[in-house]
Amino acid sequence: MKDLVSIIDVKDHVGEEIKIGAWVADKSGKGKLQFLQLRDGTAYFQAVVFKPNMIEKFGEEAGVEKFTEIKHLAQETSVIVTGVVKEDSRSKFGYELDVTDLEVVGGSVDYPITPKEHGTDFLMDNRHLWLRSRKQHAIMLVRNEIICATYEFYNANGFVKIDSPILTGSAPEGTTELFETDYFGHPAFLSQTGQLYAEAGAMAFGKVFTFGPTFRAEKSKTRRHLTEFWMIEPEMAFTTHEESLDIQEAYVKHLIKSVLENQRHALETLERDIDLLEKYVNEPFKRVTYDDAIELLQKEEANNDYDHIEWGDDFGSPHETFVSNYYGVPTFIINYPKAIKAFYMKPHPTREDVVICADLIAPEGYGEIIGGSERATDYDYLVEKVKEFGLSEEEYSWYLDLRKFGSVPHSGFGLGLERVVTFITGNQHIREAIPFPRMLGRIRP
Ligand code: 4AD
Ligand code: MG
Repeated sequence: MKDLVSIIDVKDHVGEEIKIGAWVADKSGKGKLQFLQLRDGTAYFQAVVFKPNMIEKFGEEAGVEKFTEIKHLAQETSVIVTGVVKEDSRSKFGYELDVTDLEVVGGSVDYPITPKEHGTDFLMDNRHLWLRSRKQHAIMLVRNEIICATYEFYNANGFVKIDSPILTGSAPEGTTELFETDYFGHPAFLSQTGQLYAEAGAMAFGKVFTFGPTFRAEKSKTRRHLTEFWMIEPEMAFTTHEESLDIQEAYVKHLIKSVLENQRHALETLERDIDLLEKYVNEPFKRVTYDDAIELLQKEEANNDYDHIEWGDDFGSPHETFVSNYYGVPTFIINYPKAIKAFYMKPHPTREDVVICADLIAPEGYGEIIGGSERATDYDYLVEKVKEFGLSEEEYSWYLDLRKFGSVPHSGFGLGLERVVTFITGNQHIREAIPFPRMLGRIRP
């Protein structure tokens, strides 16, 4: 509706009478005053209704009737409010609306999410409504900012976005977490990663990235795992792993910086520690080998309560939390044992037991946000690996082709969008980082 002003833009209309299309998020008042908390998706702000103003405008009877109607507006009623924009230094938002008229658009009866506390299951069952609340709204604005900043970063650095398929025949990240479906009489899987297709793209376009939903049949409930999550997967030809780490660091810093610059209000709503985010932008990320991380964990285990860990073991989240908190900045753990990593990773040139790879671990307990590696380039080595991992040579023949026709050193990585949203917003659980989460036992709404 053309004549409506968005709440985010009211600063340009101080002193003017404007119309706003909004929902009543909350309401309070006493005597001759009613305070409406309005939200229109762009922001929240307060509209003030003064009974004598209504009477002056509409006459005694109609004015009282209008005021009474406003006084009884239910939560989430949609309204078109007319009023004069005032600066208001007492409110965080800085502006307020002096209401001159209000028209109800759509009523609302017994809105389930009241300002009182609700349990998580209840809120999740009402996710389609919960998205309207302040905190969820702020998280989604941060998510949107990260998505925009991703395109901005890769555009500025000469990457081409390519779209990888969702229905695939391959299982690059292991065969235990697959969603299988029927594809005209043949088994197909929902994609775990776009990487193999990104590698084909890198051989065609040099630097590419995929950005799409990926699926893992995670059978345990944790605060870091979704069964459907979005992943950004850059892949770069003629690029060493060292160079890839530099790009990963620049990219994550760009994401944090963009949120700090463009969504500071959302971070404040979420009570995120902004000094810490600024520190992550300004200080170099730490790079530590898997070997050194294991040594550190063993040395410090007496003073901490994570489980004992041996060389060769994968880190549990308490181990990751300890290591990244020890350094106090996002930390790359480099060159993991071959036995616990994917088949496509490049073997170390002088060591049999590790591959050239890294995970980026966020501090404050947010865990792994990126997994990446240099890719194996040798045809025979990869054929061996495909066999060893119990994968079908026929299914992977197109991938193996990439090593037959001008194989080059190349590296890439995958950043989990919801992990990064959780980290930057400082939220405790990944389920709030995506509009409609899919987890064990949850596929509705
Ligand atoms: O470490 P992962 O499994 O790596 C890959 O899939 C590679 N193919 C990426 C690449 O090199 N192109 O997953 C990458 C990232 C993790 O670091 C994590 O941030 C996220 O994806 N992730 C999940 N996020 C939410 N829920 C899950 N179940 C996730 N599994 C991985
Ligand atoms: Mg990983």
